[in-house]
Amino acid sequence: MKTQILPSLLAADFGRLADEILRAEASGAEALHLDVMDAHFVPNLSFGPDVVALAARIAPGFYRNVHLMMTRPDLYLDAFAKAGAQTIQIHVEADCDIHTQLKRIRTMGLKNAIVINPETPVEHLFPYLDEIDEALVMTVHPGYGGQKFIEDCMPKVETLRRMRPGLDIMVDGGINAETALIAAKAGANQFVAGSYLFKQADMKSAVDAMRTGVSR
Ligand code: DX5
Ligand code: ZN
Repeated sequence: MKTQILPSLLAADFGRLADEILRAEASGAEALHLDVMDAHFVPNLSFGPDVVALAARIAPGFYRNVHLMMTRPDLYLDAFAKAGAQTIQIHVEADCDIHTQLKRIRTMGLKNAIVINPETPVEHLFPYLDEIDEALVMTVHPGYGGQKFIEDCMPKVETLRRMRPGLDIMVDGGINAETALIAAKAGANQFVAGSYLFKQADMKSAVDAMRTGVSR
């Protein structure tokens, strides 16, 4: 299973967004995580397809992993695909037909992923396990960066890893050098980190250290 570290752009300095995207790319992280919030599915607004397009323009070789925290992701899949999303992640709690939307994402030539919130039982993912490229287990209640890692979400990671040994399993929320180890032990192989990585003066060392730690 390939380890991936994904800086979350939500924690970047938005006054220097282009430089921050380039800094994340130069860190050697495998992909950029882009958090889209609609102020309905979560109580916050972040950014839309234009920021994905900015990343595609200034760092075309840096993989774009787009996390849609939206009640109706189905209405925006085309816009994010056009903007340059490469993986699109939709929530199992979204208000649309999930099977259909997962299929649409693949039909557009992109990778798909299903995301599960802390309060949603892991069983809700079971119907989709043969239709996804990755599963994202939220380790905070989505909506804001800088929250505390919820360790109670780890049994979900363990269950998914047991059921699908080869599946890419991502964790997102409150991830730092220590919590990444806890998630790796449970079976995660992809790690999103926002505030922890962007606050580093030397992001590359932090990414290297996190990757080495979780790969042991
Ligand atoms: C939470 C977002 C996360 C967030 C992570 O709503 O989905 O991707 O940016 O930020 P940190 O790593 O600061 O918890
Ligand atoms: Zn996210």
